Amino acid sequence: MKKDIIIDFNHVTKRFKLYKNDKKRLLGVFSKKVPYKEKLAVRDVTFQVARGETVAFFGRNGAGKSTILKMITGVSYPTKGTIDVRGRVSALLELTSGFDPELTGRENIFLKGQLCGLLDDEIKSLEDEIIEFADIGEYIDQPVRTYSSGMRARLGFAVNVNIRPEILIVDEALSVGDKEFRSKCLDRVNEVIENDNVTLLFVTHSTSTAKQFCKRGIYLVNGQLKYDGDIDQAIALYEDAGKAAKRRRRAKKELALAEAEFARTGSEEARLKMEEAQKKLDKARAMIRELNKVGSEQ
Ligand SMILES: Nc1ncnc2c1ncn2[C@@H]1O[C@H](COP(=O)(O)OP(=O)(O)OP(=O)(O)O)[C@@H](O)[C@H]1O
Ligand SMILES: [Mg+2]
Repeated sequence: MKKDIIIDFNHVTKRFKLYKNDKKRLLGVFSKKVPYKEKLAVRDVTFQVARGETVAFFGRNGAGKSTILKMITGVSYPTKGTIDVRGRVSALLELTSGFDPELTGRENIFLKGQLCGLLDDEIKSLEDEIIEFADIGEYIDQPVRTYSSGMRARLGFAVNVNIRPEILIVDEALSVGDKEFRSKCLDRVNEVIENDNVTLLFVTHSTSTAKQFCKRGIYLVNGQLKYDGDIDQAIALYEDAGKAAKRRRRAKKELALAEAEFARTGSEEARLKMEEAQKKLDKARAMIRELNKVGSEQ
């Protein structure tokens, strides 16, 4: 690995087995004969991240963003390929992850710190800062299972961002919590990036937030890496694809309406509407094909 490469994601594929139900899933652990469908969530994805880089991941729902981040965090493993991570990772994945619900907030701070390899003294010195940042009052000494989802997010964020990570992974975590807390979080992320040379991997559907933090963008389509480079270019591809998909949806709806009208009336007007809608649909489909091609040349 090159000197300052902190994450080496090398030809990684992740395949999920989808069983018909939980019983079949359990049986599947013991026997290869239980039928299942396969889902390729990540397809032969390769990228490297250097220390201090800020990378945003874009893609529609189900594109594979969270799956990639979970593998970097180590909570999930690749089916094929290798992942090399050289640094302390702190991850804000889906909100429920990482805490023991039976322990109090304060105990969870210690648990998380220990999991990240900090010594008890180091955690002690960070404890006040974390509690102050979370700002959840006396709930800090209550079990986490009694927290509201916003409170859990607050504690999660406070712990992860203040624990001095080398790699900070934020997956949609900033879309919860109230506005004031969100902006406090964003400020803090900015601080750690600037002052501590933290490497940031960031997933959000808000392109403006991503641009605020990240210089590099990775765009995924259906588990495949379509683009890796300049953030503006990645956003443009992602947004164009979104627009094209929207056009296709609208044209399909228009076509269905026109077809129904034609079936009912048989009128020339309805036939023309049908033709028009079909043209729009073809155009949207061509656009999507074109966009997919552009990406795959990268
Ligand atoms: N544990 C799992 N078992 C089976 N399939 C899974 C599992 N986790 C993810 N998948 C599937 O893998 C694909 C990628 O999911 P992933 O959560 O990585 O998408 P994403 O890009 O994070 O989407 P979103 O924007 O909705 O968060 C999806 O089709 C999803 O249904
Ligand atoms: Mg996700």
